[in-house]
Amino acid sequence: MKILKLLLLFISLQLTAQQGGMWIPSLLQGMNEQEMQSLGSELTASDIYDINQSSIKDAIGHFNGGCTSEIISPKGLVLTNHHCGYSQIQSHSSLGNDLTKNGFWAQNFSEELPNEGLFIEFIVRIEDVTTQVLQGVTDQLSERGKQSLIDKNSAAINKIAKREDFQGSKIKAFYNGNQYFLFITERYEDIRLVGAPPVSIGKFGSDTDNWMWPRHTGDFSLFRIYADKNNKPAKYSKENVPYTPKHYLPISLDGISEDDFTLVFGFPGKTSEYLPAVAVEQITQKVNPSNIEIRKAALTVIDEAMKNDDEVRIQYASKQARIANYWKKWIGENQGIEKSNAIEKKRAFEAKFTNLIEEKGLTAPYGNILSDFKTLYNTYENTVVKRSNFMEVFLRNIELMQIALRLYQFEEAYTHDNSSYEKAKSVTISKLSKVYKNFNPEVDKKVFETVIPFYTVNVNSSIYSETMLTSASEVFKLLEESPEKLILQLNNDLAYKYAKPFIDEFINTINPEYQAFISQKNALQKKYMKAMMEVMPDERYFPDANSTLRVTYGKVKGYQPKDAVYYEPVSYLEGVLEKYVPDDYEFDVPQKLQDLYTAKDYGIYADKNGKLPVCFLGTNHTTGGNSGSPALDAQGNLIGLNFDRVWEGTMSDMNYDPEICRNIMVDVRYILFIIDKYADATHLIDEMKLVHPKTK
Ligand code: ARG
Ligand code: GLU
Repeated sequence: MKILKLLLLFISLQLTAQQGGMWIPSLLQGMNEQEMQSLGSELTASDIYDINQSSIKDAIGHFNGGCTSEIISPKGLVLTNHHCGYSQIQSHSSLGNDLTKNGFWAQNFSEELPNEGLFIEFIVRIEDVTTQVLQGVTDQLSERGKQSLIDKNSAAINKIAKREDFQGSKIKAFYNGNQYFLFITERYEDIRLVGAPPVSIGKFGSDTDNWMWPRHTGDFSLFRIYADKNNKPAKYSKENVPYTPKHYLPISLDGISEDDFTLVFGFPGKTSEYLPAVAVEQITQKVNPSNIEIRKAALTVIDEAMKNDDEVRIQYASKQARIANYWKKWIGENQGIEKSNAIEKKRAFEAKFTNLIEEKGLTAPYGNILSDFKTLYNTYENTVVKRSNFMEVFLRNIELMQIALRLYQFEEAYTHDNSSYEKAKSVTISKLSKVYKNFNPEVDKKVFETVIPFYTVNVNSSIYSETMLTSASEVFKLLEESPEKLILQLNNDLAYKYAKPFIDEFINTINPEYQAFISQKNALQKKYMKAMMEVMPDERYFPDANSTLRVTYGKVKGYQPKDAVYYEPVSYLEGVLEKYVPDDYEFDVPQKLQDLYTAKDYGIYADKNGKLPVCFLGTNHTTGGNSGSPALDAQGNLIGLNFDRVWEGTMSDMNYDPEICRNIMVDVRYILFIIDKYADATHLIDEMKLVHPKTK
């Protein structure tokens, strides 16, 4: 008996050890398929990815290049997060018609709202093109020489890649440039807003709950893809019709229990799992801390202004969410790295790596990698920190400086190359229109005063009262002047004059140094990756996220965040009411939701105990970009919508630890409940295919 228990323990430890990783969907046969099946999956690799017939991947779209979305009806209905559609929802909002606050539900196709610029891209096919991309690339070439040959080869491959004329193609590097894949894509550009809950549901808990468990956010919104009469991608047109997809996800009403298999399918943005210890040390001890301080300062001003003024609240809704999101993530990341001893673990790994290199007689090609990393990171530390501070202060937090930088780039285009002037002008106008749409000079001035001191002692906020850059109409008028007059006037403007030397330094000194660092770092990281695979061939290597389509899988699971505390994996509507604070900007609960709760009117969406699940946790290895990714059950039915990770585990971008890294999903039954019972949008439910895989 004891032996059996030990054996079981051993097997389950093996299983946890096998989790983590973001895998390439076209390469799941073999190892991944087996792992998935050992976790309970009934899916084959070709159910997930197939190029000869429709498969699950055909339902997974890259939402606007950032988030993930999935098709959930034969009429092109698309599900993604509320926070992914937030800027669209906000763009249709005004004080008199505030969709963020009230929610929005189109009653029919004609009420669905078009969104300029928004697109969803699907993957048609993935092909390994490593040999062709690296053709002629030898160690004799300089780094720059290698890259330009890689670019040239890639362009040639793209040109002859087999595809329809409405399809696109792109090549991406994997394993730090040791492997290359070609992606044939289909991009739809007429995407309309169909539905969104009010922020008090879709963003419930806001920043206080962000990156945290227990969570109670209904973080979803609905869009629809429109295509031309032939079901092909087309720009917005009244003539377009709802898209008929190759595949859409059936939705399970049977819910989840702890240990159920889960698969998350989406477009994770960026991870750095194979960094050396010195890099993790620099990021967590030098870069993150100053960025955290800068954002904290900006947020103090912005949050205060939003609370006091409804117009500011709408203007800053999406901007504030963006700033607050990574501010909090970095704090969690730093704590997680420290608590899990990630840096020490990396050092121990490096010692083992070094021994193996010696044992295997590979000192000549690989012996210097780690010491080179150390020299490189030390040499460029100041540059890295300064660049990151510049980006935070000038680009991400103070909008007047952002405007100045746009105009600076415009001036550059003019002085360096006459012909690009007209082109630069239209780019500048379109970028500036976006900034000015929600620009508030009074709030921005306060942000300037709190944030600029992190970069320079020269705090001169009087520029705000003397510059014309705070006025959209004056700037657009100026842009219509002759280039000579424009440049002259611009250079007489006080805000522009203030910003210019900083931007000059950034463009001419900091950034070129940083690029030199990046190019050496990439080359070294590529070599390191190759060396690891060579000296430890039996380890489990998955490529870092790079905004391409990936599969990650695991189980529904709780976790222990600290001693004597265990977090259950499922949250319920009870918890929403526990957190309720009347009229609070984060924890208000709509009256109708309270009434449904009191009446326990959950329709067919309650679990077997009559409770309504809201969110749940899994061991899936996700990152930014996986927002809006579907969580699928063992048969490929939709069970949840990924939208976050737990705070203790946000370090998974550098150090995935199956013990405490968890992704957070909205239970699909909560989504259906909100659409059906809260919003009475039953016509949307009617479009979907609801299934009972567990009870059949
Ligand atoms: N943390 C999640 C993500 O990275 C959700 C963000 C929603 N934004 C917010 N500020 N609450 O995207
Ligand atoms: N909320 C994130 C996103 O926008 C997903 C959470 C994460 O980083 O894992 O993609």
